[in-house]
Amino acid sequence: MIQKPKGTYDVFGLMGLEVRYLEKLFESIMEKYHYQYIRTPIFEVSNLFHRTVGETSDIVRKETYDFKDKGNRDLTLRPEGTAGVVRSFIENKMSSYPNQPVKTWYIGPMYRYERPQAGRFREFYQFGVEVFGDTDSYMDAEVISIPVNYFKMLGLKNIKVKINSLGDRESKENYRKSLLDYFKPYLDSLCDDCKERYIKNPLRILDCKIDKDKDFFKKAPKTIDYLNEESKKHLEDVLKYLKALEIDYSVDSNIVRGLDYYTHTVFEVEALIPSLGNQNVLCGGGRYDNLVKSLDGPATKGVGFALGMERLLDVIHNENIKLVDDLVDIYVVPMSENTKEQVISLVNYLRLNGFVVETDYLNRNLKGNFKQIDRLNVKYIIFVGEDEIKNKKVKIKDNHTKEEYEIEFDKLIDFLDDLEGSNYEEHI
Ligand code: HAM
Repeated sequence: MIQKPKGTYDVFGLMGLEVRYLEKLFESIMEKYHYQYIRTPIFEVSNLFHRTVGETSDIVRKETYDFKDKGNRDLTLRPEGTAGVVRSFIENKMSSYPNQPVKTWYIGPMYRYERPQAGRFREFYQFGVEVFGDTDSYMDAEVISIPVNYFKMLGLKNIKVKINSLGDRESKENYRKSLLDYFKPYLDSLCDDCKERYIKNPLRILDCKIDKDKDFFKKAPKTIDYLNEESKKHLEDVLKYLKALEIDYSVDSNIVRGLDYYTHTVFEVEALIPSLGNQNVLCGGGRYDNLVKSLDGPATKGVGFALGMERLLDVIHNENIKLVDDLVDIYVVPMSENTKEQVISLVNYLRLNGFVVETDYLNRNLKGNFKQIDRLNVKYIIFVGEDEIKNKKVKIKDNHTKEEYEIEFDKLIDFLDDLEGSNYEEHI
């Protein structure tokens, strides 16, 4: 038997309903924020990720799916969404749009060659946003508010927003120097990867999962102590606006993020669920004011985030939140083989009028149809027999109250709409 590739999963059954619910809710929130949908290719030229995510990041060093196509081009399955959206922003000259800032959102699969475990896959879905333009710190707070409001609407309780600032280019450079000085005497005690990070990008050392519990690690310099006045003010303003948005947060100097492009604000939203272990970060993001320019675009600031759908679903299950009810409005029962065409036509008519309709596909007898109705969550049953067709009427049974009605075919939709109205309060 051929099995799915390691680190991937299939979506079907209840999970199919849950995933679609999560996607639709995210989409409806993005409509309220008036962000625009963007879709970029799943593969990009490899160099894009080297120049954005960063040569020294674990993602680019170890985790990308790289391949050559038949034209000998170096391509990579995207490990994250920001790089492609930035490329698209530049290539499509979105900086010249009259409507600024350019606020985009996306949902799509990402690929990382990581060791699969709970909450960590090789193909996973991210919901994210990227905003471009000369925005101030309110934009950082708004971007943070999107996952927070989303989680609130889903009813998640145990979540925590952690925020930090890496500062602007000058602050980041001062901090980099302080890390070089600090780690120099400990070089021999660092893991091999960190020795390389020390030379290429010392900030990355703070992301190390191997060295992170060592004593000297905990006393390493903190980004916040190296912020210049402008960067300090940016952070203070973000925190002020988060308060205005009634978002609880904690400032955590350990948040440096695993991608190279950030400046100023970086943030993560964690779920406080022990079973998720290290994979409890639901969402991460931040500001990247130099990224567009570094990819040869016009100097344009950026800020965004992405959240992992699989981890979110884990948390939802863990908190016993029921996302979906698989409701069927009407089940149409054919009472005789001779009425099949009329049944098919009625089913179609009801669906076109907006009802969720099921019927018999397996030529079941009446008992079999009732068993099927019991398996489904059916509100109304409509019986169509030869008599009903002759009299241009149908028999309707309320599957919960067991009340029965006989309705003329012409009046069916009005009748069903009225029933729905009278039951409305019961269903919310
Ligand atoms: P990231 O922190 O690498 O950031 O990923 C964001 C989220 O994707 C994580 O918090 C996690 O929920 C999920 N995730 C990452 N890797 C995996 C995996 N292997 N399996 C399952 N879920 C995973 C970014 O990707 C940035 N592009 C975020 C961003 C957007 N920053 C600015 N704009």
